[in-house]
Amino acid sequence: MTKVLINEKLVDEQEANVPYNDRGYVFGDGIYEYVRIYDNHIFTARPHFERLLRSAKEIGLDLKYSVEGLIELVQELINANGIVNGGVYIQVTRGAAPRDHAFPTPSVEANVMAFTKNYGRPYKELEEGINAVTTEDIRWLRCDIKSLNLLGNVLAKELAVKYNAKEAIQHRGDIVTEGSSSNVYAIKDGEIYTHPVNNYILNGITRKVIKHIAEEQNIPFNEETFTLDFLKNADEVIVSSTSIEVMPVVKLNGESVGDGKVGAITKKLQEGFTRYIDTVSGEFQENGQKI
Ligand SMILES: Cc1ncc(COP(=O)(O)O)c(C=O)c1O
Repeated sequence: MTKVLINEKLVDEQEANVPYNDRGYVFGDGIYEYVRIYDNHIFTARPHFERLLRSAKEIGLDLKYSVEGLIELVQELINANGIVNGGVYIQVTRGAAPRDHAFPTPSVEANVMAFTKNYGRPYKELEEGINAVTTEDIRWLRCDIKSLNLLGNVLAKELAVKYNAKEAIQHRGDIVTEGSSSNVYAIKDGEIYTHPVNNYILNGITRKVIKHIAEEQNIPFNEETFTLDFLKNADEVIVSSTSIEVMPVVKLNGESVGDGKVGAITKKLQEGFTRYIDTVSGEFQENGQKI
């Protein structure tokens, strides 16, 4: 029987219910994370759970867990469901309370929920690349918070589906921000360009790994804004996330990106990523710190 984590308890899927007045359900008042499991282990666990705690802090949600405590809880769930390769969705809401926009006073217990997914790496798409479309970024101005409010992202992804594409790349006016569920990179003349980390994008954990691999391989990694035109004229385009890894975009709005094939820099980053999964299983140095 598949288990779901509800507030520290592993319960059978059928019995995993949420209260009707949970603020996550009513207002989208909560945050989440999505971690990848390779070979029964959480990949880059620390930065994911650090980001969860940061998101909680940014929305004034008092979360009583430490990074280590969260890793332990989630690993228990992974083991209970016997997941070797897959992912875990973890969400935290401000809790259940009578509906009122303001935070409940006195505060109520946060509700923590997590469930697992069982799947392997997306080999075919990594090799062949995907199609993407571009669309205006209509989201709020705190995209650095991994908030449950994903309506802008959902509408962008649905547009991609409508055009038979796998991802929607968003732009605010002329500036490319990020995908509906990924970070975006344009590669031109052997250099990588990606939106700087600020309130307009999620600071992707896969982005951190890609930055690390690029630095290791002496590929310039420019954290600079770039335009939609620059993206359309790039030699290679990549989108990245915990589930799609280093994913090549070979068609943009129906037009080929570069020569329409997966490019050389993309392949180098993909090889580096695979080596990274295989050998160091999620530990590397960032600014001298193990993450
Ligand atoms: C909007 C958005 N940007 C970027 C990312 C990539 O983040 P990560 O690499 O941590 O999965 C995601 C992942 O879901 C996302 O939803």
